Amino acid sequence: MKEFKFHLDYVREQFPCLCKTVNGNPAAFLDGPGGTQVPRSVVDKINEYLYYHNANSHGSFATSIESDALVWKSREAIADFLNCDASEVSFGASSTTNNFMLAFGLLRDLKEGDEIIITEIDHEGNRSPWRTLADFGMVIKVVRVDPETYTLDLEDYKSKLSDRTKIVAINWASNATGTITDVKTFVKLAHEVGAVTVVDAVHYALHKTMDVKEIDTDFLVCSAYKFFGPHLGVLYAKKSAGEKVKSARVMADDNGDLPFKMETGTLAMELVCGAMAAVDFIADLGRVHESYFEDELVGLTGRRRLVVAGIKAIEAYEDPLALKLRTELAAIDGVKVYSPPEGTPKTSTVSFTMEGIHANEIATYLGDHGIFVWDGDFYAIHIVNNVLKLGDQGGLIRIGLAPYNTPEEIDRTVALIRQFKASRT
Ligand SMILES: Cc1ncc(COP(=O)(O)O)c(C=O)c1O
Repeated sequence: MKEFKFHLDYVREQFPCLCKTVNGNPAAFLDGPGGTQVPRSVVDKINEYLYYHNANSHGSFATSIESDALVWKSREAIADFLNCDASEVSFGASSTTNNFMLAFGLLRDLKEGDEIIITEIDHEGNRSPWRTLADFGMVIKVVRVDPETYTLDLEDYKSKLSDRTKIVAINWASNATGTITDVKTFVKLAHEVGAVTVVDAVHYALHKTMDVKEIDTDFLVCSAYKFFGPHLGVLYAKKSAGEKVKSARVMADDNGDLPFKMETGTLAMELVCGAMAAVDFIADLGRVHESYFEDELVGLTGRRRLVVAGIKAIEAYEDPLALKLRTELAAIDGVKVYSPPEGTPKTSTVSFTMEGIHANEIATYLGDHGIFVWDGDFYAIHIVNNVLKLGDQGGLIRIGLAPYNTPEEIDRTVALIRQFKASRT
């Protein structure tokens, strides 16, 4: 690969919000894992839909026909993002909602005593919908996370799998620790016992290339607002698995097929269009950086090729910055970084604690200086509170990188954390 140069200025120009200041300091949006900022092209697409194509679906007049066509084009865009067919892409309010709806659908083919496997590392959005099925007689088993390496225990998973396992809900990347799980292996083992798999790719989506065919999962959820889009959930249902689900739907005669059978009521079609524009924005990043990744893009064509190039560019830019951040934070006396060991796959999200200090104090201090970071459990409640036992000190402080962040922002953040520490000793 020729020496990589990320076109940071090009990227930053697309985000009007980056001109924001707080108390005289430029704002640094390091809150991406809670939702990225939105580029102009996405907002324009939402406006365009509402101004010129706004109508409910399946009418016989121009705006309704245009609206249906745009929604389908959005499915095609997400299909390029995930590497699937447009008919396998459904939309819903959020990933949590999509999981609840899916759980309700799958429940209809379960019987008392059937087992569902979830994990300790997952966000509640991929735990609670499945845990709820315990109320209907299902047995919930939970895969252990190693409290030292923040990785899932594969042997523990294997020990919990059996022919009683009907659903495995697994996390691709942790929004608390950045840990990336080898979901392909988890899916393969689940399929060997005949279980259906649900992969939570909400945190993974912006950071690494997704290929649902490669991991072979039956279902996958991700959320457009984590990859430059609006607040909208995406559900992938593999054709063979989706066709079998007795999904929750109104009882009309046009609803038996994918992708419509996984959707309820009228979609937020303007947001669906925004999700298309978000994928196109990633493809634009790919167009600008494609030449660096020729070897890795062999065999890929069209928008899929550009999307993969875009994500590779994001990864190539963010990963060294995240390594620097982890290293410099870990060097501060009293700071503990909660990332898997170097060499273990991870995203560019870095969480830490400072001994004796409540997480919210640090997040507030940084916020007052224009550095936007999250603190708490981020709904990864089980790992943060029960495994890492950080509830009393306010959980973690989470710094999440997005491609509009700069090396200078990282330096400023670390300097402020050092300054905060010095003020307390
Ligand atoms: C890993 C992970 N899973 C699930 C969710 C829930 O997604 P949504 O807000 O779309 O329901 C989040 C949100 O932060 C997340 O980070």
